[in-house]
This record gives sequence, C-alpha cells and structure tokens, in this order.
Amino acid sequence: MEKKIRIGALISGGGSNLQAIIDGCESGGISGDVVFTGSDVPGVKGLERAEKHGIPTFVVNYGAIIKGEEKFDLPEDFSLEEILGKQSLFQADAPAEKVKRFFLTRAVAEASLLAEMKAYDIDLLVLAGFMRNLSPYFIDRVNTDPVLPRIMNIHPALLPSFPGVDGYGDTFRYGCRVGGCTVHFIDYGEDSGPIIGQKAFPIDPSDTLDAVKKKGLEKEWELYPECIELFCRGKLKTEETTFELPGGKKLVKSRVKIL
Ligand code: GRF
Repeated sequence: MEKKIRIGALISGGGSNLQAIIDGCESGGISGDVVFTGSDVPGVKGLERAEKHGIPTFVVNYGAIIKGEEKFDLPEDFSLEEILGKQSLFQADAPAEKVKRFFLTRAVAEASLLAEMKAYDIDLLVLAGFMRNLSPYFIDRVNTDPVLPRIMNIHPALLPSFPGVDGYGDTFRYGCRVGGCTVHFIDYGEDSGPIIGQKAFPIDPSDTLDAVKKKGLEKEWELYPECIELFCRGKLKTEETTFELPGGKKLVKSRVKIL
C-alpha cells in the first residue's frame, strides 16, 4: 500500500468540503489523513465536524487581529518591502496605507497559523472554504519545492471567470448557462493559481441562486477529493510554458501537468 500523506485543512464556515475530504480519507478514496483543521472564525460548524472525527482543531481569530483588539507583534522574519514586491492581490494604484495595513495584519495572523501548524509536518494544505487571501509571507513558508506547490483551494466558479468571494452569485447574476467549480494551487494573486481540475453543471432558466449553489456544491464534493488524490499519488507538478500570442507578444504561464 502507498504511504498516506498528511493533509492540513483551513476553513471558515460550514465545512461541507472538509467533510467530503474527511470521508474520502476514511473510505480510501484519498490516500491521506486530515491531521488538523484550523479556522479563522471561532465556533464554526466545520470545527465540530473535524472534532467528531477525532481531528485536532485550532482557531486563529483573524477578525480580532485585523480590528487590533489585542496587541500583536510582527514576526521577526517579516519584510514588508519583500512582500510588496511579490504580491499580486492589489494593483499598483491601490491606496498604499490600506495595502500596508493589509499585509501587516496578515503577517501577524499568518505567523500564528504557521505556529499552530508547525507540530503537524504536513505534505499538503487544503483550503476548504477558507475565506482569507494568503500572503506571500505564508505561501513561501509552506511551498518549498518550486515545481510542486502544496496549498490547494476550491473556488465556486469556472476560473478565470468570477474570482472573489461570491463565485456562484456572480455566475448566476451574469446569466451564465453553465456554472462550475475549480480546484487550483494558490499563488500570490486572488484565485489566480495553476488549475488542477474543474467540473461544470448546466444552469436552467428556472434555477434560483440557491439551486445553482446546491448543484455547485455537489460538484465540489466530487472534485476536491479527486484532485487531492492526484496529489497523493504524485501525479501533479507545475510547468512554465511560453506561448506566442497573436501580435507577437510572449506569455509565460505556470500550468499544472498531470503525470
Ligand atoms: C464553497 O462553495 C467553496 O467553494 C467556497 O466556499 C464554500 C465553502 O463551503 N470557497 P463549505 O464550508 O465547504 O461548506
């Protein structure tokens, strides 16, 4: 039998994707174990789901950190200049003070996440409805192999359409005839990392937004375990490919290759 990988999970809410992943691990569909579940919000249902399966949990309360309710120190190995040079969450014309405050508060929260995660020695981190963008400070400390990123996310839309917090809502309001979900590796942008897998579903004229969300979640519960299993079996790597665009410009794109 192949060695099982160690999976860490971060959530913010109900944790139905987390449940699908735990179930996949328990049924053998995923050759791994969820070894911890962390949340940025205290008291959410996903934490309860993990505890029911004997999985250790922790909370890093982003809300309190961002509001400055307590005094937190910046991690010693944090360099704002370095992070500003790498990040692509904000455009160059975004208000500098806002951007600075964002990365300072995130560094504090992310250092705390890293400290909580340290004991578990994970192979893969899955974001399962974790509603926070991770900064290069965190990403660089988890991703150590340049061709094998280790942070996966599930997004409720067919990327690169409709990045952001309300993928199904945006898909529905736009009037799309097809919706879907995407599993991708995290990079320094918002929902912009290399795509691992996607599933689509039809949107019928009679569908409400709730119906679209329901169809989408059912696809997510299939797709995420499938993509995680590809990782477990060593089938994923990223590859930079250069394309020549009409007009002669070159595009260099990091894409997932399934081995
Ligand atoms: C999912 O639709 C996921 O794609 C999005 O947030 C939702 C989380 O649902 N990022 P759950 O917490 O897994 O039930």
